[in-house]
Amino acid sequence: MSATLSEVTQDADTTTRPGLREGAFGNARALSCRECGHEVELGPFYACPECFGPLEVAYGERAVSREEIEAGPRNIWRYKALLPVPTDIESSPNTEPGFTRLLRAHNLGRELGIETLWVKDDSTNPTNSFKDRVVACALSAARELHAKVFACPSTGNLANAVAAAGARAGIKTVVFIPADLEKPKQVNSAVYTDSLVAVNGSYDDVNRLASEIAGEEDGWAFVNVNVRPYYAEGSKTLGFEIAEQLGWRLPDQIVIPVASGSQLTKVHKAFQELIALGLVEDKPYRVFGAQAAGCSPVSTAYKAGVDAIRPVKPDTIAKSLAIGNPADGIYVLDICRQTGGAVEDVTDDEVRAGILLLARNEGIFTETAGGTTTAVLKKLVETGQLDPSLETVIINTGMGLKTLDAVADQVGAAATIDPSYTAFAATGIA
Ligand SMILES: Cc1ncc(COP(=O)(O)O)c(C=O)c1O
Ligand SMILES: [Zn+2]
Repeated sequence: MSATLSEVTQDADTTTRPGLREGAFGNARALSCRECGHEVELGPFYACPECFGPLEVAYGERAVSREEIEAGPRNIWRYKALLPVPTDIESSPNTEPGFTRLLRAHNLGRELGIETLWVKDDSTNPTNSFKDRVVACALSAARELHAKVFACPSTGNLANAVAAAGARAGIKTVVFIPADLEKPKQVNSAVYTDSLVAVNGSYDDVNRLASEIAGEEDGWAFVNVNVRPYYAEGSKTLGFEIAEQLGWRLPDQIVIPVASGSQLTKVHKAFQELIALGLVEDKPYRVFGAQAAGCSPVSTAYKAGVDAIRPVKPDTIAKSLAIGNPADGIYVLDICRQTGGAVEDVTDDEVRAGILLLARNEGIFTETAGGTTTAVLKKLVETGQLDPSLETVIINTGMGLKTLDAVADQVGAAATIDPSYTAFAATGIA
């Protein structure tokens, strides 16, 4: 690449960036500041040169029909016209995530008194979390920008996804995690890369370190730092899929876990894009955010009725959601307030109970993030914030096998017996 990946930004008044092939970012036209609307050219930029606000992908004219999407592959590339990726994206090795199940949750709905409840189960992605979606888009950007290293600071799942996608793409990966992360999440990265770096500190410390490295090293694509605008667009595919799987319509209510808040803002953006493109009917829907009480800067601001988010020092078993200074927190507040939703939080005990609630009712083993979402759903119904008569979707973003310890003490063999019928009969299980 002709310019360093660590440049902060560049104005949009130049023509195509040297070294960038035509159509490298599909229908994307520029990067636009979420705060002041200033535009910069497509490149490894993430902060506005005018106001330091976050940049996001802006598109040119787009027209795509339901039929064209339905004829596409059964992964996120069926929505490639709506993503910052080239039209030949399917020919590059990637993890091809997406098109996960949308399950009608009859039992959980009955248990909580919700008439129509669905679970979007993203635990079945290639590395078992929704992060495969964002990483697939980040990998495309990294490739187009000729990055030498594919990297991230992570609360765990992102590191798994980056390490695996980089291995498939044959690009060097370096992933940074807090040293106290759950062992399965460490192993799930280390199997794919020999450059897992455990940092003595919180995720927010790891994130700061990553920004520093991005500024020092040439050619590093940090998926959620200097290619964040492209990366974040990947979460839109959750919203696209939910609408398509509901038969091209939007749900009335949706509950989404919040760490940085990126996913929630992008699901909302996806719904807005589908409306604007005429792919679904325009209708009101409410967006709810879910946090763990031990790291709830967004729900705290929501409940206090303030706009500013005060960073916190996380202390929760929901480590994948343990971001104390959420980059997109203020946008989450806006969206939840504007749509008539809410942001709620639950204790670690409720998170554990949430994991079991989903497992015992729907046969889905979620990680602590999904336990948080399920427990928040329950609390929203109990406190009257969510309308149980309206069609509701929750997103299960991760897999329980990665956070076994959260429930390992609460479940286990009901009995340990000798291999005889008498011994079994004595247990009273029959
Ligand atoms: C399983 C899981 N769910 C949800 C999230 C929250 O995502 P976001 O940072 O986009 O809010 C994360 C983030 O790491 C995660 O790992
Ligand atoms: Zn700006």
